Amino acid sequence: MFPKDFVWGAATASYQIEGAVNEDGRVPSIWDTFSATPGNVENGDTGAVACDHYHRYKEDVALMKQLGLKAYRFSIAWGRVLNGQQVNQRGLDFYSRLVDELLAAHIQPWVTLYHWDLPQNLQDEGGWTNRAIVEKFAHYADVVTRALGDRVKHWITFNEPWVFTYLGYGIGYHAPGISSLPAYLSAAHHFLLSHARSVPIIRGNSPDSKVGVTLDISQPEGDPRAVARQRDFHNHWFLDPIYFGEYPQELFTVYQEMGYLPDIQDGDLEAIQGKPDFLGINYYTRQVVEYDESDPLHLTRWVHQPESEYTEMGWEVAPESIYRMLKYINDRYAPDAMVITENGAAFADEVSDDGQVHDPRRVAFYDAYLRNCLRAIQEGVPLKGYFAWSLLDNFEWAFGYSKRFGIIYVDYETQQRIPKDSAKWYSQLIKRNGFE
Ligand code: FCB
Repeated sequence: MFPKDFVWGAATASYQIEGAVNEDGRVPSIWDTFSATPGNVENGDTGAVACDHYHRYKEDVALMKQLGLKAYRFSIAWGRVLNGQQVNQRGLDFYSRLVDELLAAHIQPWVTLYHWDLPQNLQDEGGWTNRAIVEKFAHYADVVTRALGDRVKHWITFNEPWVFTYLGYGIGYHAPGISSLPAYLSAAHHFLLSHARSVPIIRGNSPDSKVGVTLDISQPEGDPRAVARQRDFHNHWFLDPIYFGEYPQELFTVYQEMGYLPDIQDGDLEAIQGKPDFLGINYYTRQVVEYDESDPLHLTRWVHQPESEYTEMGWEVAPESIYRMLKYINDRYAPDAMVITENGAAFADEVSDDGQVHDPRRVAFYDAYLRNCLRAIQEGVPLKGYFAWSLLDNFEWAFGYSKRFGIIYVDYETQQRIPKDSAKWYSQLIKRNGFE
């Protein structure tokens, strides 16, 4: 059995499901620009229509209610609610209606402020590499939490800073498509400042709320030298400043010698340090690593595990590793609370002749990962909730619609939703608050 008040949810993100990109005053985001550029996204897919959730949110909330979800994690599209400094009331109203719909269904809204869809007009001024973004983000956080803070009591400032700064600015695999390590480190520093700057604003506008941040924790396993570097690079670079008020020393020196360090001003690290109310963790897979001297920065080579099962993303199914990851993060940072804000798997789902979607591999995936979460809880890890990624099949970034992560199948031609077997399984698990 899971703890009595354990939060069971499912997650999505604005650009991946909403569609309606030109409606009610929304301004373009870097993902509109990036996906419109040939070669960036598989199949030339874009989020222009996606799951049409903007128009179908009532139907989607009804499905969540039917499944018995206790919580729903979604993100706000910055460019729907602000055009520059100008508030767009129609955009805010959409989220306000969604929140009311959820509350009426007794589902807690968990809101992510930034899940990667930066307004293009801010990218035109340098985006996350321009320190001015800190005040822009603070304003955005203020506008959203003033409008929704009376009803929303769980806030996540950012989703996966390593992904949007490194993949977006460091190697150009995600929007805005820039490949520069100094740009990456500057974006990462401004993320840290923006997160810290927004926390007191959110708390002020949303009394009695919990404010957290979500990271994609990497779990390297193998050669200790490679493990140490990979953890510094992917995890500690973001979490040490927040929990300890400092960057990890060894990697800091490496970046310094390469001349990559961002402009870190007096007082920045003091400002960044501060325990969030909860640490959100997105977790999918581990990386088995070997030491690789030919890469002086990362020192790491990933090794394929021939005996393991892999998902459509090419990610190893490694359920025990979520247990080890939770223990390591708990030992290092002792967070007051932890929440798995994403976990799930992409498989090549199809609608069967009976009109249903049978996804036994996804059921087995969830079952095994959740058993390992429970084991961590039983050993004292303060894990307070779990969100399946994703509620719906959706726009999987650079992979477009080719990867299906939903517990609900989406037919993109008709926008029909079909709860998969995994959704029914999850629903039963929630009802029992544990395994059979
Ligand atoms: C995470 C993202 C989420 C989704 C999953 C599969 O990195 O936060 O939007 O794409 O991966």
